[in-house]
Amino acid sequence: RVINWSPESAGKEGYPHFMLKEIHEQPRALRETWAGLDMDYVSKLGKAIAEARRVFITASGTSYHAGLILDYLLVSLAGLDAHAFNSSEYRKYIKLVKEGDILIAISQSGETIDTLMATRVFRERGAKVLAVSNVVDSTIPRESDYQLYTNAGPEIGVAATKTFTTQLMILTALAANAALHSGGMGKEAYSLVLNELEQAPDLVNTTIINVEARVRHIAGKLAVKTNAYYLSRGIGLPIAMEGALKMKEVAYVHAEAYPAGESKHGPIALVNQEFPVVFTVTDDDYLDPLEGNVMEMTARGAYTIGILPSRHYAKLGKVFTEVIQTPDASPYLLTIIQSIPLQLLAYHTAVLRGYDPDKPRNLAKTVTVE
Ligand code: G6P
Repeated sequence: RVINWSPESAGKEGYPHFMLKEIHEQPRALRETWAGLDMDYVSKLGKAIAEARRVFITASGTSYHAGLILDYLLVSLAGLDAHAFNSSEYRKYIKLVKEGDILIAISQSGETIDTLMATRVFRERGAKVLAVSNVVDSTIPRESDYQLYTNAGPEIGVAATKTFTTQLMILTALAANAALHSGGMGKEAYSLVLNELEQAPDLVNTTIINVEARVRHIAGKLAVKTNAYYLSRGIGLPIAMEGALKMKEVAYVHAEAYPAGESKHGPIALVNQEFPVVFTVTDDDYLDPLEGNVMEMTARGAYTIGILPSRHYAKLGKVFTEVIQTPDASPYLLTIIQSIPLQLLAYHTAVLRGYDPDKPRNLAKTVTVE
């Protein structure tokens, strides 16, 4: 009798790849992250952020995109002076940092060298550092003043998936709390955000079930392409950036994210028949200009893919070549929900192109050299 499974494949629990397993694990990862979140501590941090002189946010890769969501919420919801930057670019800010500032350093591994360097330099200059990580007692949290942990469990796939959506959950709760303290958000609105975040596991579960067949069909089209744009406006933009990063990382399709309104200033020059353009639709405020951007792409024969919550289907369902409908939610939760089809799209495109999404070439799970 031949035993044809390895301990590694047993760890995949029947999934062909860790990436797919980890995508499907997100309802559980979100539930456990929510259960592990001490709201009194979040409130202490939210107050400190609201009272800080200035808030800096730093991270690399996928964690940086979570940082951009935090930046968006701290500025637009809490009205705070927040700046997100790639941790490898920390030197730009050295002269600006002073006592009274806070740096939020996001790193799932807690070991990324650039994020660690930024942490050290900011602390030396008197800033307090809050580390957000998935690995308890890793280096960045150990060297920080405050720690918040996602409870996603170990992530084996090189491309981050469940650590990203759990980061979004924690950072959205944190930003909403900072907004409560800054006066940017009232008590009722704050409770609504928390109630929605609590529903994230169920809505993500529904999303995975509802979108997979459609995503697979679209992946079949993308698998023969060499380029794609990912466009959005507002809080959907970092999600589009993350979608494009996933596509590059595992499927090796050159994917570029852009603010949709900026697409006229260059990117559209490349668009011709069947050029794939993915749109994430999140903010109600931006529907009309976004529709205009879709039409500009359609007029050039682009293959447009709209990821949109069901409430926008009546207005926008017909303007895209393909639609991936997700459950309805506020933009705070749509960031998490809309990440799911984008992860699955990258995964299925990679597999159809014959690549192993768990072992992308030239990439490491944790980058420990500058
Ligand atoms: C590498 C990984 C990415 C990750 C990034 C930041 O590039 O391949 O998936 O997002 O590092 O890692 P961190 O552990 O700091 O979140």
